[in-house]
Amino acid sequence: MSSQPSAPRKRVTITDLRRMKGAGERIAMVTAYDATMARLVDDAGADAILVGDSLGMVFQGHDSTLPVTLEHMIYHSAAVRRGLSRSQGRAHVTADMPFGSYQASADDAVKSAMRLVAEGGAEAVKLEGGADYADVIQRIVRAGVPVMGHIGLTPQSVHKMGGYVVQGKDAEKAHRLLRDAKALEEAGCFAIVLECIPAELARIITGQLAIPTIGIGAGSHCDGQVLVVNDLLGLDGAFKPKFVKRFAELGGGVAGAVAAYVGEVHGGSFPADEHSFHSATLRLLHAVDDERPDEQQAFGAPA
Ligand code: KIV
Repeated sequence: MSSQPSAPRKRVTITDLRRMKGAGERIAMVTAYDATMARLVDDAGADAILVGDSLGMVFQGHDSTLPVTLEHMIYHSAAVRRGLSRSQGRAHVTADMPFGSYQASADDAVKSAMRLVAEGGAEAVKLEGGADYADVIQRIVRAGVPVMGHIGLTPQSVHKMGGYVVQGKDAEKAHRLLRDAKALEEAGCFAIVLECIPAELARIITGQLAIPTIGIGAGSHCDGQVLVVNDLLGLDGAFKPKFVKRFAELGGGVAGAVAAYVGEVHGGSFPADEHSFHSATLRLLHAVDDERPDEQQAFGAPA
């Protein structure tokens, strides 16, 4: 038996993601917003993690992603990075550029992207928008930060779109999205999210790009898929859009576990003796016969 420490796991890079497209291997991307979920998602084999600004809705409880700030994104990205570092995680990490952090000027965009990488530990950033953002993307890429594009339903433009509606359904709009996708590739994006567009259009775009497309509500022909982790785990019983498949119904499981805890606390059966610490000295003081000194640590020391 070898006593050698195991070699660190190789982290997924944008080159790996590009190679996967070339080899016809599908890319599995999932959102995560905290260290525990990042570790679980990585252990489960996800190739890539998106620290999405969807956290504004599923984590912060807003009805849009618009209130999410750059500071929030850095905070959650850093938590995800720590979770992966502690478990030698391999998933590639992209962080969303939130509303207001890149639209006003290319200088703002470069500075925001650099903070997400330097302070948030992200390996890439994602921003929403088509050909209009080509110059901004070029500037960020030139600064050394890989950029993932995002077209179709772009939640930061919810008011402009008139709601969260499927995009690119007629020929003219479909052509515009195809042009946008090509412009993003030309500008240097390493991948593009296609959100809520017809599967037929996603298939055409995917076939015409050398970089991977990552679909959400864009059918089965994309090079990869991304889902919000809370959605795929079924944590919110009320949220059931057509494009989400729930791979578990954990919302009910969580509620059941908490209800059992509440019941045991109210009924006095938790904590039991096995969840309690003991002191021989204090037992003597209280004239208790049963001496079982307990020198266990309360919980593990920081690694
Ligand atoms: O913020 C997010 O989670 C996203 C995905 C839904 C693509 O942008």
